[in-house]
Amino acid sequence: MSTTENGDQVATRPEPVAAHAASENPEDARTLLSVENLKMYFPVKSSGLIHRKVGDVQAVDGVSFEVKAGGSLGLVGESGCGKSTTGRLITRLYEPTAGHIRFEGEDIASVPERKLKPLRREIQMIFQDPYTSLNPRHTVGSIIGTPLRIHNVVPEKQVLPRVKELLEIVGLNPEHYNRFPNEFSGGQRQRIGIARALTLNPKLLVADEPVSALDVSIQAQVINLLQDIQREFGVAFLFIAHDLAIVRHFCPEVAVMYLGKIVEIGDRDSIYNQPRHPYTQALLSAVPDVKQAAVGGRRERIQLEGDVPSPINPPSGCRFRTRCPIAQDICARLEPPLLQIGKKHKVACHFPGALGQHPNEPLTAGMLGVDHQGNPDPGASPSPDLTDKPGYDDTWFDLDTRTFGRA
Ligand SMILES: Nc1ncnc2c1ncn2[C@@H]1O[C@H](COP(=O)(O)OP(=O)(O)OP(=O)(O)O)[C@@H](O)[C@H]1O
Ligand code: SF4
Ligand SMILES: [Mg+2]
Repeated sequence: MSTTENGDQVATRPEPVAAHAASENPEDARTLLSVENLKMYFPVKSSGLIHRKVGDVQAVDGVSFEVKAGGSLGLVGESGCGKSTTGRLITRLYEPTAGHIRFEGEDIASVPERKLKPLRREIQMIFQDPYTSLNPRHTVGSIIGTPLRIHNVVPEKQVLPRVKELLEIVGLNPEHYNRFPNEFSGGQRQRIGIARALTLNPKLLVADEPVSALDVSIQAQVINLLQDIQREFGVAFLFIAHDLAIVRHFCPEVAVMYLGKIVEIGDRDSIYNQPRHPYTQALLSAVPDVKQAAVGGRRERIQLEGDVPSPINPPSGCRFRTRCPIAQDICARLEPPLLQIGKKHKVACHFPGALGQHPNEPLTAGMLGVDHQGNPDPGASPSPDLTDKPGYDDTWFDLDTRTFGRA
């Protein structure tokens, strides 16, 4: 509403929300979360009377990454590639099949359920759907106040003042603590979900599609709020989203997943301006305002053939090969290592290169000890250390000179 000269109140169109500047990772921040070779296989059981295990859904199959204190890593990829499962593993809603999740240096991957209470304070989750993630029978005061009580964060007398303070932080009226979730709009409910996630002063927030259920006009407001929270409280984010433009804005570092694996990871500039994996290039070509730089000024969208294969029986070698426009024999025989190709850039492809300039022969053959078709090559001397570690080394494989070196 605004007021005219003669004092009448008139409805006005809401001002479009100006987005904050893109987020940057703090300089020289310590590593808060280090994930190494993380796997989650869900058993598939036969139907009938006796449920025998007949296979596994390989939802997450050996992912490694780091999140810096106060920083943000974006996780992107098509539906079903394992983003939410990765987030749920980090928050230990699931116990991983294998791998390490080091949080503040301590491996929490197999800490038993009864010992997880302190961890629950440190790592919190923001969910996609603000309609189903809040209990409709509880007031907002109870939704936000309960974790404060369970974890004895403040004395009982301080619970309500703290609830009001949190409501204010997320931009809601503190006096509305007695209302129920259905009395709020979608954007306001997501703010309640954010307030709940903040109650225990977490160091890491796993935000799983935090704005994709909201109107576009509300999305910018909620992203601004998350940026304010990050700056004010120094909280780190694992930010899961489909929307590559939002991820570019919020995340200084991005990991691209395909069928349970990270295929490319790097800083914002590497992923958005110099993608070297055919899948990343295809994903970016579908986003109108980011595709130009990523695909060398080409305007057309790269259409991927076929559907994503089943994670129960993924393709041999490179999992992307059944849809990859440049696949060769070696791609079916050997899985490409996640090779570091820049200061903060890794790619898992035998033929990494700029769009339209992928090499004709596999750059990985020598280091894997195989010939160009992927058959063992007795004359080759494979690189001993191609295992996928979290973080980046200070030496890497230069795609132009095709040698390992340092900057
Ligand atoms: N509890 C479960 N039991 C069995 N399979 C599961 C389970 N949870 C996820 N999956 C399967 O694991 C794979 C990865 O699912 P996940 O939800 O992590 O994907 P996602 O990348 O978050 O997708 P979306 O973008 O649609 O949210 C999918 O094939 C999914 O069907
Ligand atoms: S390894 Fe082969 S199939 Fe996989 S992305 Fe690279 S070229 Fe395509
Ligand atoms: Mg998901």
